[in-house]
Amino acid sequence: MVNTAVTLCGIELTNPVIPASGTFGYGREFAEIYDIDCLGAFAIKGTTREPRFGNPAPRIADAPAGMLNSVGLQNPGVDAVVARELPELAKVYHKKVLANVCGFSVDEYVEVAARLDKEDIVGWLELNVSCPNVHGGGMGFGTTCSGAAEVTREVKRAVKKPVIVKLTPNVTDIAAIARACEDAGADGLSLINTVLAMRIDPAARKPVLANITGGLSGGAVFPLALRCVYQAYEAVGIPIIGMGGVRSARDVIEMTLAGATAVGVGAANLINPFAAKEIIEALPAEMEKYGIENLVDIIGGAHNG
Ligand code: SIN
Repeated sequence: MVNTAVTLCGIELTNPVIPASGTFGYGREFAEIYDIDCLGAFAIKGTTREPRFGNPAPRIADAPAGMLNSVGLQNPGVDAVVARELPELAKVYHKKVLANVCGFSVDEYVEVAARLDKEDIVGWLELNVSCPNVHGGGMGFGTTCSGAAEVTREVKRAVKKPVIVKLTPNVTDIAAIARACEDAGADGLSLINTVLAMRIDPAARKPVLANITGGLSGGAVFPLALRCVYQAYEAVGIPIIGMGGVRSARDVIEMTLAGATAVGVGAANLINPFAAKEIIEALPAEMEKYGIENLVDIIGGAHNG
């Protein structure tokens, strides 16, 4: 019998699989089709101070082995998340969530994080400094060491729960950003968010997305995500949630070997709503296939050679 349990910033997960923010809503629709307590954890949709309707449509585009989104942080705002979404979720889910926190200023990150920090169901705060679809916030903070560090440092001062900073791959040196977040007090990192990308409609001779650009996710980005996790692991000593194009139990093992303590599943949930559950179910047999008894034993295992 293999052991899939991992510990993420002091909280034990029965398995490492975590549906990624923005691909699992607030869990309720998924809870109608399977018992979501089988998950290691999951991340709720990014939360801002005010409600947001997001970007104009079209905001989804097809891509080879993936998809583009330019949703623009649509969410009901922190008041509604606290008053409605989290209490409803607690009726169908009995583990902890990562509360994904977004902002357009450092003050907004601090205020939203401090509100969500008080909620029992929130186990970790995931600081989203990596959304490529908004102007004046999101990725704007995560593409410089100083921006990522400032958000991390100020939020850490205001909260008690572990702070996990979600990084963008749209940088030259992801190891430097990872190190800056760790130095500023981050308890963990999650990476990658989506890759800045676009499509053009040849008939209309204009970009497919109303926002012009969007974030690429899905299987196409898996090797890129794996490379980023590998580089971040060499740069820091804090745990990493590896994500980006994960579609199978084999991908979970590759991410773990690259250095991930837990593994996010994102776009795959949008293609197959049972994807996370199926990966969890397939993981023990996949571990046996590679002679792995305890998943924790192979975290960062690809760096030993
Ligand atoms: C979005 O809402 O635009 C996607 C979220 C993200 O990229 O962080």
